[in-house]
Amino acid sequence: MATPPSTTAAPAFGTVPAPTMVVAEAVGGSFGPPRTEPTQPLAIHPFAHVLHYGSACFEGLKAHRGTDDVVRLFRPDRHAARLRRTASLLHLPIPPLALLEDMLVAATVGNLEVVPPVPGALYLRPLLLGTDPNIGAAATPSADALLVVLSSPVGDYFAGGDRPLTLEVETEVPRTTPAFGEAKAGANYVLALGPTLQARAEHGADQVLFAPGGDVQETGAANFLLMDQDRIVTRQLDGSFLHGVTRDSVLTLARDLGLAVEERPVSVDEVLRWPGEAALAGTAAVLAGVGTLIHDGRRHTVGDGQVGPVTRRLRTALLQLQRGEVPDPYGWTRPVTGTDGPA
Ligand SMILES: Cc1ncc(COP(=O)(O)O)c(C=O)c1O
Repeated sequence: MATPPSTTAAPAFGTVPAPTMVVAEAVGGSFGPPRTEPTQPLAIHPFAHVLHYGSACFEGLKAHRGTDDVVRLFRPDRHAARLRRTASLLHLPIPPLALLEDMLVAATVGNLEVVPPVPGALYLRPLLLGTDPNIGAAATPSADALLVVLSSPVGDYFAGGDRPLTLEVETEVPRTTPAFGEAKAGANYVLALGPTLQARAEHGADQVLFAPGGDVQETGAANFLLMDQDRIVTRQLDGSFLHGVTRDSVLTLARDLGLAVEERPVSVDEVLRWPGEAALAGTAAVLAGVGTLIHDGRRHTVGDGQVGPVTRRLRTALLQLQRGEVPDPYGWTRPVTGTDGPA
């Protein structure tokens, strides 16, 4: 009999459900207590607001198992705050901060056994859906909502791990609408899909760098940074893009490593002329080096086309902190043990 083909390749990011999820419901704008359940299909009324009017948003964060075997959530407070900000932009009931933090801890506790060792992590995906059963509510916010924290053991987001990425620079089609740039709403991702699929098919690009009118914002799922031995440059916080927790963490670490941090407008011209390194920052990608930019059909090599030394240094500093391998002077990591108890 022929030997079956090897099946050792890691499953794709986000395709493996962890055993449990944590659920809380809001009725008339107020959230009830959370409960831990097996990960299973959600029962949603077919008249639910989210299914018709797009009242859906989410978050994405990780719990890392350190080499000391301790599992630590990374900056759960910041992700909870951002979900609240998105909920307000979508006019959804805003979950209390303490509820969100309790649910993130409960989701980690409920799935402690499947948190993979490094370089893997447990990816947590809080999801907030408007559930008012009313198909006549196009101009009315949903006062009922379903909040679910899903979890998934993950490996590397980009297939090939450490290879330099290729970005297509898009100056005409925007990633999203100006009002939603800062929101982590599902609708933003389907809006970015068309240009991303086209860039992949036409140029083999990994991601699109959205820069409407030549003004650099971010890619479809990560923030964009320029760096060299002395400084790190990225767009200043405004309503046009998602305020990444990784971006903030990398800027803080860079400052502490003695780099100057410049938060200011960045133009496509500057990016194409930049002699140093470029990288994408995000929970999934961590800090991923950019090797090639495609603009107006022409390929431009960034630096020497490889993942640069500053990118590697900052990436290592962040991963070491997330994994508890170095002290955490910022209070970013939240150790989670079985004694925290399920929801
Ligand atoms: C559009 C977009 N920008 C930036 C980021 C990075 O945010 P964070 O570092 O908080 O994961 C993400 C999420 O990963 C994203 O979806």
